[in-house]
Amino acid sequence: MNMPTDHALLNGRPCTLAELPALLRTAAGAGGDGLCCEVPPRAAAAQQSLWREGFRYEGLNRATGCLRFSRLPADASLPREPLSYLDGEWLPRADARVRVEDRGFVFSDGVYEVVRYYNGRAFTMREHEERMRFSLRSLKIELDWKAHPLAAISDELLAVNGWPDAHVYWQVTRGAAHRKHYFPRPAVAPTVTIFAYPEGPLKQDGARSMTAITREDVRWKHCEIKSISLLSNILDSEAAQAAGVGTAILVRQGIVTECPARSLFLVERGGLTSYPLDGTVLDSITRRVVIELARGAGITVREEGPALARLYAAEEAFVVGTTTEVTAVTEVDGRRIGNGQVGALTQRLADLFVERVRRECGIAG
Ligand SMILES: Cc1ncc(COP(=O)(O)O)c(C=O)c1O
Repeated sequence: MNMPTDHALLNGRPCTLAELPALLRTAAGAGGDGLCCEVPPRAAAAQQSLWREGFRYEGLNRATGCLRFSRLPADASLPREPLSYLDGEWLPRADARVRVEDRGFVFSDGVYEVVRYYNGRAFTMREHEERMRFSLRSLKIELDWKAHPLAAISDELLAVNGWPDAHVYWQVTRGAAHRKHYFPRPAVAPTVTIFAYPEGPLKQDGARSMTAITREDVRWKHCEIKSISLLSNILDSEAAQAAGVGTAILVRQGIVTECPARSLFLVERGGLTSYPLDGTVLDSITRRVVIELARGAGITVREEGPALARLYAAEEAFVVGTTTEVTAVTEVDGRRIGNGQVGALTQRLADLFVERVRRECGIAG
């Protein structure tokens, strides 16, 4: 039977989540080695208290649906290797190994998502799940979602590692099979990998900025699929890194499209311009959120591909993405954009974005 979602079990005794931190402090203060505790999967604050008091994740109690933690002796060896998920197993990241014949490894035959957690809660999880379904469908990879509930596994992964703020990476490949270009016959089980990196909490102190260079967009035409085949993005990102700027901006036949891992907006005549979703760019979830926020605030949004000259002449420019949030672009190819500072509209949208994250992830203002 599942435990109520506002309760925990401390050494077999039920208590409310509100009572738990004080009980843990007392128990840990009294020595407390060998204590065990079970909490529901999405109880981020409780999980953080456990982490603080020296508890470590043990595994899922499938009977109650709760996460089991136990307290290690004070001298137990820490830090540990973060845990990752591979095909149903929790493994230290260094031990989570895939077969050499995995088609992700051999052909880049797979798809991915990156989800941001703030304050122990996923931001726009439903949208990431939907886009994952779309990418899988596009490549005809059949994932057993019941066996691999990506959102629930991600919640658990962060609890396991004790990270309320993190990026979670999902990757699903077509699986391991004899190396032939066409799909394996019979089909093999996809390889499912999930791992995470800890991040800082939501930044609420104003939009950041970066500079950029432009690069010819030579990617394949199906960039609406979030494929792990990212060679062109890698070369463009490396070129930006080598040039000492924050990002590349991609230009296809004179038209500005997006960035290797971000979408781009121009501010022109007080409104926004963003390349349209014509199937050749990613349907960025952050872009969707920003467009919704802008329209809600009465700001015009034009979805059209601007010529490069319009980028150079824009009043402001900014990039958006799961890892980027809303970040101003102040210089492109050595030319100042606008006055070379974070623009007023960029700042306004960054503030609206922060507000939206706060609301969705339960962060106090
Ligand atoms: C090519 C490209 N465009 C845009 C984005 C931003 O998308 P999202 O906002 O969904 O993170 C990404 C993210 O990885 C990307 O790879």
